[in-house]
Amino acid sequence: MAFPVQRLRRLRFKPVLREIVSETKLSVESLVYPVFVEFGRKKKTEVSSMPGVFRYSIDELVKEVKEIKGLGIRAILLFGIPEKKDKVASGAYAENGVVQEALRALKSESEDLLLITDVCLCEYMEHGHCGLVNAKGEIENDSTLELLAKTAVSHVSAGADMVAPSDMMDGRVRAIRDALDRAGFVNYPIMSYSAKYASSFYGPFREAADSTPKFGDRKSHQMNPANVREALREVELDIKEGADIVMVKPALAYLDVIYRVKKKFNIPVAAYNVSGEYSLVKAAGRNNWVDEKSIMMEILLSIKRAGADIIITYFAKEIAKLLE
Ligand code: PBG
Repeated sequence: MAFPVQRLRRLRFKPVLREIVSETKLSVESLVYPVFVEFGRKKKTEVSSMPGVFRYSIDELVKEVKEIKGLGIRAILLFGIPEKKDKVASGAYAENGVVQEALRALKSESEDLLLITDVCLCEYMEHGHCGLVNAKGEIENDSTLELLAKTAVSHVSAGADMVAPSDMMDGRVRAIRDALDRAGFVNYPIMSYSAKYASSFYGPFREAADSTPKFGDRKSHQMNPANVREALREVELDIKEGADIVMVKPALAYLDVIYRVKKKFNIPVAAYNVSGEYSLVKAAGRNNWVDEKSIMMEILLSIKRAGADIIITYFAKEIAKLLE
């Protein structure tokens, strides 16, 4: 050989060394498991488009949470499905709302588990929109803020450790921060869904949470998938308004956004590996078109490599089992 070959393969040849020099590692501590809770007893209903994901009644959720903790998962993100919906989303901030009751029921489990709640109104609105809708059928940003703030305060009062507003109204982080502070909850952080795109990847979630809008879409407040500078601006504003953690959502089709946010800001970055990302893998896996487990790990690793400190994923339990 006339030239010295640079044998990078030496670092890959033996699996144990490959692992030792791995630049990115997935760990169970960085995962958040989303869970859906509804009223009733002894109910555990599989979401048809999301095999392995269930809607739990509160008693079943408590059992599920024990299992989640047993796997080493440190955080859950709670979504509620109310019994009744109306035009002011009263179930979102009701003293005895489904999320509030679930939080109280989980109190005994919460010492070593972070209870995060999704703050949005869409699951609680008759029309399925994330805010109040006026006579013209438009979502009203400013009047919605008060309801979001009320929802966040009611979650923390009932036992939430952190709130995660996903509505994408402008100014909601400040409205929520102010309301929490006024209620004496200065030490309770906000994880803001800062760069949330108007995405078709949310389809299966809307079946799970029963939150498909009855008319129109979410394009007036969720972001255009074509934009990344706008994402940076959303993140910047949320940080100014008091966000403690910022989120990019969805994850897989937006790895460049995760990367840019991580480079530009010195704040923990979360990425939401959303329902559609999960369902695609499950569907292809069930057909044996791909190796489901290794595809799952590769996707999650790519989200981590792009810069996510926290990954919210329906795969959390399966990953925890594989990493054990
Ligand atoms: C509520 C909300 C949505 C998701 C999280 N919070 C749906 C939406 O905005 O339509 C999507 C999560 C997922 O797809 O897994 N606004």
